[in-house]
Amino acid sequence: MMQKTLCYFDNNATTRVAPEVVDALIPFLRDHWGNPSSAYSFGHEIAHQVEEARAKVAALINADPREIIFTSCGTESSNSAIHSALVVHPEKRHVLTTAVEHSANIKFGDFLKKQGYSVTLLPVEPDGSLDLHLLEKSIRPDTAIVSVMWANNETGVLFPIEEIAAICRSKGVVFHTDAVQVAGKLKIDVKEQGIDMLSLSAHKLHAPKGIGLLYVKRRTKYHPYIIGGGQERGRRGGTENVPYIVAFGRAAELALASVDHENTRVRALRDKLENGILATIEGASRNGAKEPRLPNTTNIAFEGVEAEGILLLLDQAGICVSSGSACTTGSLDPSHVLLAMGCSAARARGSIRFSLGIYNTDEEVDYVLKCLPGVISRLRANAPVEAG
Ligand SMILES: Cc1ncc(COP(=O)(O)O)c(C=O)c1O
Repeated sequence: MMQKTLCYFDNNATTRVAPEVVDALIPFLRDHWGNPSSAYSFGHEIAHQVEEARAKVAALINADPREIIFTSCGTESSNSAIHSALVVHPEKRHVLTTAVEHSANIKFGDFLKKQGYSVTLLPVEPDGSLDLHLLEKSIRPDTAIVSVMWANNETGVLFPIEEIAAICRSKGVVFHTDAVQVAGKLKIDVKEQGIDMLSLSAHKLHAPKGIGLLYVKRRTKYHPYIIGGGQERGRRGGTENVPYIVAFGRAAELALASVDHENTRVRALRDKLENGILATIEGASRNGAKEPRLPNTTNIAFEGVEAEGILLLLDQAGICVSSGSACTTGSLDPSHVLLAMGCSAARARGSIRFSLGIYNTDEEVDYVLKCLPGVISRLRANAPVEAG
């Protein structure tokens, strides 16, 4: 296969597996392939490595290792959190979440509604922020769980998780947050931030796809979503995905060490890209608040063009970006996040997300800034659409 230039600006979709993570993983495919539940030492050693990895991912969020449940992905983690709250409080049949969550919550909410549960999707302001008074008022006596994402995957807008956790605590409701986009980008301290449950996904922090975790604060009642063997202290059945758990542990270690880097160098690259685009391309404007926002994300609307066209032409130049979330790419539906922020369908359809990461360079940002104005003017000249 011919290797072409790859200028990867889609780190919120997934990230390159770090070479250090690959090195940690390979021996667990090749040599240490035993089952951690086995009664002999070949298995015990594997179990020990799983626990080492658990300690590393726990350290990333300042949790106790016993509070970590390994899952297959962020989606499973969030589904499990909501499912558990409904099962352990059968008299409570209401879930409070937001209109801008990942489909892991939105679609699970649709499913729950069909089962007779009540699900509230809190609206957001035009800048993507939440009205906390409305959130507080929307908690009902029958609310089983409040599940609010920490960072939006499309715009990078951050919700004030500590304040939301405090509101939930005062109301005696379990609080879950989807922190999938936060790990490695911002400091996570579940104790300080007062979080009851939190979802992470390893492939957003330079580990492979197919492994995630759910943090469940001690003494929070929990009912498993996947029922089977007694793995994960009886909280998730299924033989552990040892190579990926080890990889997740190594990635967590690296992420903990590079948070400051992401917050300074990656933020500076993102700002250079965003400022450059806004300054040089007429009719370009940011979606969502400038701050508080993830340091790596910018979402920009280009008046009078379709994002699909931008994606295609940038792809030809070896540049990877996305429109909306990766899960909706390929469909022509405008992003539910941008629509919830009050954007017109035309604006949402002309919006692109750039999400940077630790492997991006200054030269790559310069290259995008060089290519993009030509791409936009070519599209505007060829296929003008109604501005919105
Ligand atoms: C905010 C957010 N939540 C959840 C997920 C789902 O994670 P996973 O792909 O591990 O299921 C994603 C992935 O795009 C995400 O960005």
